[in-house]
Amino acid sequence: MRKRSSLRIMLDLIHLAKGELSDLVVAIIAGIISFLSTVGIAISGALLIVQLAWRIDLSFKKIILMMAIFVFFRGLTRYLEQFLNHLVAFKVLRMLRDKVFAAIRRLAPAKIEGSNKGELISMITGDIELIEVFYAHTISPICIAVVCGTIYIVSIARFSPPIALTTLLSYLLMGTVLPVLFSKWAKNTGYVLRKEIGGLNNIFLDLLRGITEIMQFSYRDKAIKVVEKSNTSLITRQAQLIEQLALLLGIEDAIAVLTSGIAVLIGMRTGLSWHILLPIAFGIFFSFPAIANVASLGNGLSQSLACGERVLNLLEEEPVVKEIKNGVDLNLQDNKADSIIEIENLSFAYGEQAILKDFNLKIAPGEILGIQGESGCGKSTLLKLIMRFWSADMGEIRLCGVPIENINTQSLWNNIGYMTQNTEFFEGTIRDNLLIAKPNASDGKMKAALEKASILDFVESLEHGMDTRLTELGDNFSAGERQRFGLARCFLEDAGILLLDEPTSNLDVLNENIILSALKEYQAGRTIIMVSHRESSLKICDRIIQMQGQE
Ligand SMILES: Nc1ncnc2c1ncn2[C@@H]1O[C@H](COP(=O)(O)OP(=O)(O)O)[C@@H](O)[C@H]1O
Ligand SMILES: [Mg+2]
Repeated sequence: MRKRSSLRIMLDLIHLAKGELSDLVVAIIAGIISFLSTVGIAISGALLIVQLAWRIDLSFKKIILMMAIFVFFRGLTRYLEQFLNHLVAFKVLRMLRDKVFAAIRRLAPAKIEGSNKGELISMITGDIELIEVFYAHTISPICIAVVCGTIYIVSIARFSPPIALTTLLSYLLMGTVLPVLFSKWAKNTGYVLRKEIGGLNNIFLDLLRGITEIMQFSYRDKAIKVVEKSNTSLITRQAQLIEQLALLLGIEDAIAVLTSGIAVLIGMRTGLSWHILLPIAFGIFFSFPAIANVASLGNGLSQSLACGERVLNLLEEEPVVKEIKNGVDLNLQDNKADSIIEIENLSFAYGEQAILKDFNLKIAPGEILGIQGESGCGKSTLLKLIMRFWSADMGEIRLCGVPIENINTQSLWNNIGYMTQNTEFFEGTIRDNLLIAKPNASDGKMKAALEKASILDFVESLEHGMDTRLTELGDNFSAGERQRFGLARCFLEDAGILLLDEPTSNLDVLNENIILSALKEYQAGRTIIMVSHRESSLKICDRIIQMQGQE
């Protein structure tokens, strides 16, 4: 993972939001007017007192009118600032979610397979939400503080340079020293906190998946302890962050009060008249919120930047295998080679763990090939290599004589139906889940596919048939039914090559036989590779090979 400086993260995040810059600029201008109006209201208040006490030549009515104008602008611009800042932030977050999802798709399946899903979930939900702090509450406060601070100081300097200098020093203390100190202090806590939240998500996912094991075995107490431990450590970190924030707010208030007090003392010493000094003192006191917004950044910002860094790293992560777009499109019918799939001297390892060494295989068009072998010998890996989910370390896989590195990835996948032991379903109806395989399939085609996979009777027995929502069925789907749905999907997709990874592992003998004869009947010239540890499932194969594991 790449480590970046805070400044680098901020610049990279701003770069991502460059499409929203115009809204951001309007938000900043609105913010500047809003904070200037606040000071205007305070000065008007002071002038009212001055008017009552010393009868200066500014009419009561005029001051009230001035105040009313400031109040109006303060309200309007505050609204605009908040609205636009958040609008920008939420638009950017929407874009980030899209990008994160696209990155996950790009990295899948190789990089996602081994990663912690909990961390990915906390990235899509929590991290992206926290980056909002950066877009809505960082860029504009900094710009506003710089512009407003300058205007305040220049205005004060016209009446009293020493007071202006004192105020400037306080601004600098509040606007630069405090945020730097506090963000250094909070950065580590923030980073660890984000990691721990990701960790807690992982623990929950893990426990949910294994809930039956937890209930059944004596793991229950241990599971509760694991959650408690992670939770306690989370609370400790959060308490640390809040303590830091509380201390910061106290220091900010102290600086504002002290500076106003010192300004009054300097004014009295230098003989500034009260009708000038009082508005200045009021103005100074109420000018601090514009600067304090920057001081408070350190705390939330450290977390926001930690999240930003994680998301940026994910966006930049390179996939194991790059999608090919400018290669050739496959046409299985036009195959001139004697083999439809040809594997030559293939070697592959997951890191250090060698799985395949000098593996050779030729599969003729229309052949049903069975692959048998002990668990862990690399059967599933071989299918994943043909799908190009991973790429070979050495050797070559050719389809119709074309090395798969030269075949457009979409075309490769369109020509191969791939099914694993675990058929996954998505939120939606049975129909939606079938249409994944072929988006514009007719009802008739879908029913035929269901029938071939001998699951049509089951679907028709449901009250809503193909419109049954899968959530309604929930876990009521048996593993065997899932598997038959998976097959129905493959039949519907109707690709020329089928890669079946343990397609019958969850079926009883009766259903296994039904599926096998369906496969045989469906085959009609299609090429099928079927991986199975079960002898009985391989009986329809024209040829069976044994795979050996690598030591
Ligand atoms: N993504 C992965 N990263 C690291 N090792 C893996 C990965 N997938 C599988 N393996 C390992 O590779 C070996 C072969 O796995 P696999 O091809 O699934 O075996 P089979 O399907 O023959 O049972 C196993 O030891 C497995 O633990
Ligand atoms: Mg396997």
